[in-house]
Amino acid sequence: MLTIAVSKGRIYAEALPLLGQAGVVPDEDPARSRKLILSTQRSDVQLLIIRATDVPTYVEYGAADLGIVGKDVLVEYGAEGLYEPLDLGIARCRLMIARRQGGMVQPARRRLRVATKYVKTAQRHFARQGIQADVIKLYGSMELAPLVGLADCIVDLVDTGNTLRANGLEPHELIMEVSSRLIVNKAAMKMKHASIKAFIRQLKASLPNDSKHSPKPPCPTSTSPA
Ligand code: ATP
Ligand code: PRP
Repeated sequence: MLTIAVSKGRIYAEALPLLGQAGVVPDEDPARSRKLILSTQRSDVQLLIIRATDVPTYVEYGAADLGIVGKDVLVEYGAEGLYEPLDLGIARCRLMIARRQGGMVQPARRRLRVATKYVKTAQRHFARQGIQADVIKLYGSMELAPLVGLADCIVDLVDTGNTLRANGLEPHELIMEVSSRLIVNKAAMKMKHASIKAFIRQLKASLPNDSKHSPKPPCPTSTSPA
């Protein structure tokens, strides 16, 4: 049996056609069902439906053999214990620093305050630039933080730029391009080598040729320097 961890919502929706090409068609829709383990039309494959941020944990500890997860989550988690054999090219977006439109990021008399759910990634990024920053952990609606004085800027995902614009923010700096990756538990790769390899091959064959490394077109909102 192969167990694949996937989050419901946008990654599930975009992964479904790819999984379908490998014959993995869930017997139920997770948006309607309360079940967390879904059987599929392949008797040797089941899906675990979990939070996006929990996918690497389930795969690293071997509760799932494989997982589908955003590169943003993977980098924040620190995925040394996992293989990442495929860029699926789905759920594409950018991890960016954003600030109030026209606003300065670096305050004059204190350390920069940054609100994000990507605490480690943000700390690493600012440390690399030699900027001392206090990183404030939030769990959602990051765009609110600069508007009410909680933070000078945010580190969050940007796709269309609509959420930033709607809140009077603008992108300031790109941290990384994001897409979803297939991840594999290292022990499972040894123990279930033939079936995992075959599954990866099937998934790879269903990817569009350009999906692997083509960058996303530029974000519609401008990226001006501080
Ligand atoms: P959790 O439930 O664990 O807090 P979440 O609410 O961030 O996770 P989603 O919003 O479904 O879960 O996002 C899952 C993944 O989809 C993200 O980790 C990222 O890789 C990608 N993603 C998030 N927002 C966007 C977006 N606006 N456009 C494209 N991809 C996105
Ligand atoms: C994500 C992200 C941004 C928004 C960016 O939020 O956290 O708020 O998408 O997309 P845009 O540039 O196209 O506006 P999501 O829609 O997942 O909501 P949530 O994380 O607050 O649940």
